[in-house]
Amino acid sequence: MLACGYVGKGRLAEPEEIIACIEEHFSGAEPVADLPLQGKNVLVTAGPTREQVDPVRYFTNYSSGKMGYAIAEAAARMGASVTLVSGPTALEKPAGVHVIEVISTEDMYQAVMKEYPEQDLVIKSAAVADYTPRIKYDEKMKKNKENWSVEMEKTTDILSVLGQKKERQILVGFAAETGNLEKYALDKLKRKNLDMIVANNVAQEDAGFSVDTNRVIIYKKDGSSIEYPLQSKEKVAEEVLLQAMELMAL
Ligand code: PMT
Repeated sequence: MLACGYVGKGRLAEPEEIIACIEEHFSGAEPVADLPLQGKNVLVTAGPTREQVDPVRYFTNYSSGKMGYAIAEAAARMGASVTLVSGPTALEKPAGVHVIEVISTEDMYQAVMKEYPEQDLVIKSAAVADYTPRIKYDEKMKKNKENWSVEMEKTTDILSVLGQKKERQILVGFAAETGNLEKYALDKLKRKNLDMIVANNVAQEDAGFSVDTNRVIIYKKDGSSIEYPLQSKEKVAEEVLLQAMELMAL
């Protein structure tokens, strides 16, 4: 039987979720026989955030959303009820996934905190802006000065707040580094009270931002780590979920 009307906890699916679910059903995609995440709520964040300075300009980064969308899709295939909090991307909404679209770090923070209490697993693969312009102008800034300095202030570290408020959730962070991968990833794992962190060296051309492949090392809070070769982001997504499931004792 085809059940596309509900998404987790009896929530009625949005029309586009129902269409995507029906399309997937008739697409001939391999049905997943084993649904290890059935009954679990999984929240994934993906893409960049965008910090506006005036109505025509903003600061952002090179995240395409591919990594996070691949995780959301894989979790849905494994039977989870998936919420994807996504910054602006050019990607199609994954089938059978509840997508919440956000723009800024503050929007992402509000959306994630609202969903957090219901979640069993949270995976924060979004590339969240660390700074936002202190002043956001209502009018377009005119180019009548030779130089323009924009003062930036820190955004909320969403993952740190999740770590502080963690109850039963398994919390997985990402670390985007250009060097000293292990040192910085382990620091984030501890400082942000995570259960697991997925470190990627974003200085490599075939890994990290925008590309279809990634090369990651997973560090867990028990001190263990696994280094993976270059793989598609779809394969990385599955490995991340398998390791998270171990921590959930599934
Ligand atoms: O989207 P793609 O093009 O596929 O690229 C994938 C990716 C490179 C974006 C992804 O693999 C990745 O590394 N995501 C994390 C990027 C990042 O922001 O890393 P970070 O080391 O700066 O942050 C560490 C963790 O804290 C991350 O889980 C981040 O989501 C979180 N964070 C950071 C700042 C902030 N204000 N709030 C946060 O929650």
